[in-house]
Amino acid sequence: MHKVSAAWGVLPPVVRALLLQGAAFVMLLALARVLPVLIPPPYPLWGWALAQGVLAALLSWRLGLPRWWLVIQLLFPPLLWLALAVGVPWWGVALALALLWLVFRNALSEQVPLYLSNRTTWKALCRAANTLQAPVRFMDLGCGWGGVVRFLGAHCPAVVRSVGVETAPLNLWVAHRRVGDAGEVHGVSLWETQLGDFNMVYAFLSPAPMARLSEKVRAEMPPRSLFVSNSFPLPDCEATEIWQLNDRRGTLLYLYYFDAERRLVPPREVCDGDD
Ligand SMILES: C[S@@+](CC[C@H](N)C(=O)[O-])C[C@H]1O[C@@H](n2cnc3c(N)ncnc32)[C@H](O)[C@@H]1O
Repeated sequence: MHKVSAAWGVLPPVVRALLLQGAAFVMLLALARVLPVLIPPPYPLWGWALAQGVLAALLSWRLGLPRWWLVIQLLFPPLLWLALAVGVPWWGVALALALLWLVFRNALSEQVPLYLSNRTTWKALCRAANTLQAPVRFMDLGCGWGGVVRFLGAHCPAVVRSVGVETAPLNLWVAHRRVGDAGEVHGVSLWETQLGDFNMVYAFLSPAPMARLSEKVRAEMPPRSLFVSNSFPLPDCEATEIWQLNDRRGTLLYLYYFDAERRLVPPREVCDGDD
């Protein structure tokens, strides 16, 4: 039993989600055999799709899939039914799914979807770069559509090199075009980057990769450097400073400074809240 649950835990969420949709389908088939005793047929297809979504979401909840997967599990069967009912051809559905994959590929493999830093955050990152009082070589781990890389490369004088990495194909394509001469965009995984070449590193990811990222950051950040995480703190160490930005979502930036010996600088009070 223990082995089964361990094997289940290592399966990527997308595989677990598909297996649970399959399980929900089989359970509904079994239910359909006894249902005529209670409710006489015929049963509408939309009812089946709805029941399939609810059952798959319930199973996913019981078996510990991340919360946003429950929404996908719930909506996928009814949306698929709706698309086919209004006459979207099968290749239209396939195209929509392919487009979603091109943008959200990392939501499936890394549990990191696409959402973008806003302009208030770009400016705060520029102020953070100034605190290093040295030429800044900047890296955005998972740069999305390249907004941060472009802004810091083009509008932040302290930044002498601005680099982003991204692996979702459509995001990478957009970032390449958007960043242009203001910086560099590379199609490599953030896990393959060498952080030692950068004295400021930024990440806006999700809770899922933060423990692994913490190990990488502490192993690789060079002396007198700064790691900034948007919204998601490193789980096992305290930030040197936490900035709350004056934007609609009250963005929190967690700043981790490393001293000349590469030791993490302990928490200190922040007086400046303006942005
Ligand atoms: C929340 S978005 C942040 C985008 C951008 N940094 C910003 O702040 O506007 C996270 C991005 O990281 C990308 N990503 C997730 N895992 C990655 C990985 N292992 N390597 C490269 N990019 C990754 C996702 O595709 C997504 O575009």
